[in-house]
Amino acid sequence: MANGTVKLSIIYYSATGTIQKMADRLVEAGRQAGADVRLRHVEELAPMAAISSNDAWLRHYEQIKDQPKATADDVVWADAVLFGTPTRYGNVCSQLKQFIDTLGPQWQQGLLADKVYAGFTASQTTHGGQESTLLTLYNVIIHFGGILVPPGYTDPLKFVDGNPYGVSHVTGPENTDPLTEAEYNALDHMARRVVTTAGKLRAGA
Ligand SMILES: Cc1cc2nc3c(=O)[nH]c(=O)nc-3n(C[C@H](O)[C@H](O)[C@H](O)COP(=O)(O)O)c2cc1C
Repeated sequence: MANGTVKLSIIYYSATGTIQKMADRLVEAGRQAGADVRLRHVEELAPMAAISSNDAWLRHYEQIKDQPKATADDVVWADAVLFGTPTRYGNVCSQLKQFIDTLGPQWQQGLLADKVYAGFTASQTTHGGQESTLLTLYNVIIHFGGILVPPGYTDPLKFVDGNPYGVSHVTGPENTDPLTEAEYNALDHMARRVVTTAGKLRAGA
C-alpha cells in the first residue's frame, strides 16, 4: 500500500439497518476516493429482550453480531473517521457514546487529535433531531482536537439533500423508507471530501 494512502474508519451503530446501509455506501465511496477503509459496528449494549421485541432490530443484530467490533485502534489508525448514529431523542445513541467514552486513554495521549471527522445520522421523522444529533456528536470532536470537515454547501448536490451538518435520512412512519439518490450522492460527496482533506493534511505533514 502506498505511503500516501488515506486511512478511513467508518464507525457506527445501527439497530434496524439504516445507518448500516449509509455506512456501506461510505465504504464504497471512500474506496473509490482511494482510501484504505475500515468498517466497524460498535458493540450492542441493549438487552436481548429489547432487541427481540423488534423484528428488524433482531434481524440486523443477527446479521452483524459476528462482524469485527470497533476498537480504539480503529480511531487511532485512521486519518479520517466518519461516525454514524441513529437519532435517539435528538441525541447520539448510547451504544456509540459508550464506545466514544472508552477512548479516554487515547484522548489523554493526544491520539485522537488532528484527524478529519464528520458524521451521519437518521431519524424517523423529518424534524426529528438530526441536526442536534450531529451537533452533539461534534462536541466530542472538538474535545478530541479533531478537524471537523462537515459537507456544508460545498457542492450543488448539497442543496438537494439539504444537510450541511453531515448526511442524514428520514426513515418514515414504518422506519423503512429507502435511501434516496440525493442521499447517496451526499454520502459519496462526504466520503470524497473527508478523504481528499485528510490526504492534503497527510501531504503537508
Ligand atoms: C429510543 C429511540 C429514540 C428515538 N428518537 C428519535 C427522535 O428523537 N426523532 C426521530 O425522528 N426518530 C427517533 N427514533 C427513530 C430512530 O432514529 C430511527 O429508527 C433510526 O434512525 C433508524 O436507524 P437504524 O435503522 O440504523 O437503527 C428513535 C428510536 C428509538 C428506538
